[in-house]
Amino acid sequence: MDKTVTFALAKGRLAEKSAELLQKCGIDCANILEPTRKLVLTDASGKYKFIFVKPSDVPIYVERGVADIGVVGKDTLMEDGADVYELADLGFAKCRLAVAGYPGFDLTDRTGLKVATKYGNIARRYFESKGQNVEIITLHGSIELGPIVGLSDVILDIVESGKTLKENGLTVLEEICDVSARLIVNKVSLKTKAQDIKPLVEKIFSALE
Ligand code: PRP
Repeated sequence: MDKTVTFALAKGRLAEKSAELLQKCGIDCANILEPTRKLVLTDASGKYKFIFVKPSDVPIYVERGVADIGVVGKDTLMEDGADVYELADLGFAKCRLAVAGYPGFDLTDRTGLKVATKYGNIARRYFESKGQNVEIITLHGSIELGPIVGLSDVILDIVESGKTLKENGLTVLEEICDVSARLIVNKVSLKTKAQDIKPLVEKIFSALE
């Protein structure tokens, strides 16, 4: 039986923080921090394999068992859902989900509000819960352009430092929730590779304390 533990790591900001956490757990993954275009790497011991995927694809790799463990933003889990165990809030990559637009824009009692977002499901649920009818415009990046070019009235997006909003003359109009990186595990792997995964998860918990 394959004893390798495979991690799905989101390329970009999350990868670096994830590697730092794994180093604290005694996994030598210095090579992850080096610039590379490789999509599959192993640690020095060969026990752990890392696959680098688009952040929004992490849950599907873990759900399908191609990866045993993954690190992913709560925003992605909320948007796409996944049949995985969410074992820990890793406490990094903290940001907020928010509705943003031009300062003073009145969101109340607006019907047919145009909302640009890459979080269509979250947006639909959020506005439905407020009983507000909206038109969702799906974008894949540079969401802040929406109101600036008149494509949308507002946006629903993650806000980290708030710099992108500020530099584009926009502001948070409504906060939805805080989000951060989560540790997710494949449901079958947690049983079949328990001897390898459980001690690792415990080390991760200790490293977080
Ligand atoms: C995200 C998000 C905002 C920005 C927020 O975009 O969609 O645009 O970061 O960060 P800030 O509050 O620190 O400015 P990302 O950098 O992931 O790029 P994208 O536009 O391609 O989604």
